[in-house]
Amino acid sequence: MAPPFSRPAVLFVKLMLLGLLVAVAAWIVLARWTMTPRHVAYAPVAQPIAFSHKHHVSDDGIDCRYCHTAVENSATAGMPSTSVCLSCHSQLFLDSPALAPLHDSARTGKPIHWVRVHDLPDFVYFEHDIHVAKGVACIECHGRVDQMPITWRTASLEMQWCLRCHRDAPHHVRPLNQVLSMAPEKPLRPEEIRQLNRLYQLRDAQALTNCSTCHR
Ligand code: HEC
Ligand code: HEC
Ligand code: HEC
Ligand code: HEC
Ligand code: HEC
Repeated sequence: MAPPFSRPAVLFVKLMLLGLLVAVAAWIVLARWTMTPRHVAYAPVAQPIAFSHKHHVSDDGIDCRYCHTAVENSATAGMPSTSVCLSCHSQLFLDSPALAPLHDSARTGKPIHWVRVHDLPDFVYFEHDIHVAKGVACIECHGRVDQMPITWRTASLEMQWCLRCHRDAPHHVRPLNQVLSMAPEKPLRPEEIRQLNRLYQLRDAQALTNCSTCHR
């Protein structure tokens, strides 16, 4: 006796059902993806010299503090002066057109005007040194700078961004020897988190979200 449905018809129905399943799964994945907040990438800023952190940090292995000398002991990180660049570029790539503005600056004594990538309003009080001393890593706030051929911002710098971390500071600190590391952060064990909190003596969320912490 012939089967009630032909083989191609059965195959067709099976494929339809499979297609439906895939579509539903894709829809769920897409819906979740659009609802979860992701790292926001902000457009890079054109600079007077096309300076690349990727070259200088990843390829050449230069420490952040070689150029941002004040980051551990003052409110601002500080920008490198022309003479810092010249410590290498008085010999390296002397004829590179990319470096012409650097040599102009050395000749005229006029500093290079780097365009700000991050710029908080004046009524906000922010200090680098306290964050660095309490184990908040550069990568937490600036992302993978070592992979940036041109520097961009990875955080909104809005008040809510500061507050999200200040409400949950214990989960955003690292051992001091990892503060400058650009390696992706590994989650810490609960025991390590407790140890760091004892070491840094972090204040509670209420104190850290008090208006006068950041507006004084
Ligand atoms: C060889 C010097 C040099 C080194 C090393 C260096 N930087 Fe920079 N950095 C610069 C210069 C020059 C600028 C300004 C041009 C630009 O924004 O790309 C800058 C800009 C920045 C900015 C944006 C500043 C702004 O305008 O808001 C951040 C953030 C930054 N650097 C972080 C880092 C971190 C983190 C490291 C270490 C992983 C590092 N830098 C290593 C020279 C350096
Ligand atoms: C808790 C977040 C946070 C951490 C951690 C942090 N920064 Fe910043 N950084 C900022 C903010 C916010 C600004 C903008 C400050 C402003 O506009 O006054 C900034 C600005 C800068 C600048 C521009 C110059 C300046 O001081 O305004 C550089 C360079 C910089 N950071 C480098 C670093 C380096 C290197 C590290 C790690 C040693 C680091 N930052 C760690 C938040 C952070
Ligand atoms: C410790 C040594 C060192 C310092 C300090 C340094 N550089 Fe460099 N720079 C290099 C090296 C090495 C290269 C080659 C990069 C590569 O391909 O890895 C380079 C490449 C460059 C280039 C690309 C040149 C080209 O023609 O491709 C620019 C632009 C540049 N540096 C700008 C700067 C500026 C601006 C500063 C100061 C903020 C600076 N450098 C500080 C070592 C240095
Ligand atoms: C990734 C986490 C993180 C982010 C983001 C962050 N902070 Fe902090 N902040 C900390 C930690 C940790 C401390 C140290 C807390 C302590 O000592 O109890 C701190 C301390 C401070 C202090 C010192 C408080 C005092 O009274 O000594 C100020 C001011 C401050 N933050 C301002 C800001 C501002 C403004 C922003 C946003 C632009 C910001 N922070 C973003 C983690 C963060
Ligand atoms: C951890 C740091 C931090 C704390 C705590 C904080 N603020 Fe802010 N606040 C900021 C930053 C950063 C901005 C700038 C936001 C921007 O430029 O978008 C800001 C902006 C503001 C503004 C300007 C309006 C706006 O949205 O631009 C007001 C008003 C304000 N804060 C009030 C408060 C009050 C009231 C409290 C206490 C309940 C408070 N802030 C606590 C960091 C903080």
